[in-house]
Amino acid sequence: MGFMTIDGKQVEFTDEPNVLSVIRKADIDIPTLCYHSELSVYGACRLCTVENEKGKTFASCSEKPKDGMVVYTNTPRLMKYRKMILELLLAAHDRDCTTCIKSGECHLQELAHRMGVTTVPYKNRMTHHEIDASSPSIIRNPNKCILCGDCVRMCDNVQAVNAIDFTSRGTSATVAPAFNKLLNTTDCVGCGQCRVVCPTGAISINTNMDPVWEALADPDTKVIAQIAPAVRVA
Ligand code: FES
Repeated sequence: MGFMTIDGKQVEFTDEPNVLSVIRKADIDIPTLCYHSELSVYGACRLCTVENEKGKTFASCSEKPKDGMVVYTNTPRLMKYRKMILELLLAAHDRDCTTCIKSGECHLQELAHRMGVTTVPYKNRMTHHEIDASSPSIIRNPNKCILCGDCVRMCDNVQAVNAIDFTSRGTSATVAPAFNKLLNTTDCVGCGQCRVVCPTGAISINTNMDPVWEALADPDTKVIAQIAPAVRVA
């Protein structure tokens, strides 16, 4: 137990696992894309970055609260950093939001609106990946993936299925089954928990199940090419 000063306000903490939880306990809104209290801390998105009284910045999800800590959550510098992080994520993202199945529920889209990101001042770095609609229950669209790793930690650490993981490096990095195989060749049980934590349209529920089964029944059908557009329009 101890006290922290957050944006000039004294806040008591007891067993909160990180500074982010204490900030939220104080009813201060702080954006996150990769933090879920039920998953292990990954510290990937850096949106939860705060600064101390000396101007040192750190990810609040990855830092334990300490008695006497002084933290600022919304300084102009932090707002600038957060906006820049979103712009960089969007620069490597399929921004065809109007046809995205997650439009209106996408956390990245919502944060971009909230932080006034209307244009992306960086070169488009998106690498095109095939959409995987091989599973009867889940559609995987790596072009919408922001590499937060939420789905990986859910699938591997919580569900213990290990159907997906990070693959490749640099701008080609994405989340996929091992050796970029299709989801229906893995141990995926279709539990959909990866979809629950995915903040974007990278993982969605297959609302078009019957045609998928139809396509799977035909060995000559290219499932990825034929099913994905129909799902994206829906
Ligand atoms: Fe802390 Fe993503 S929420 S780094």
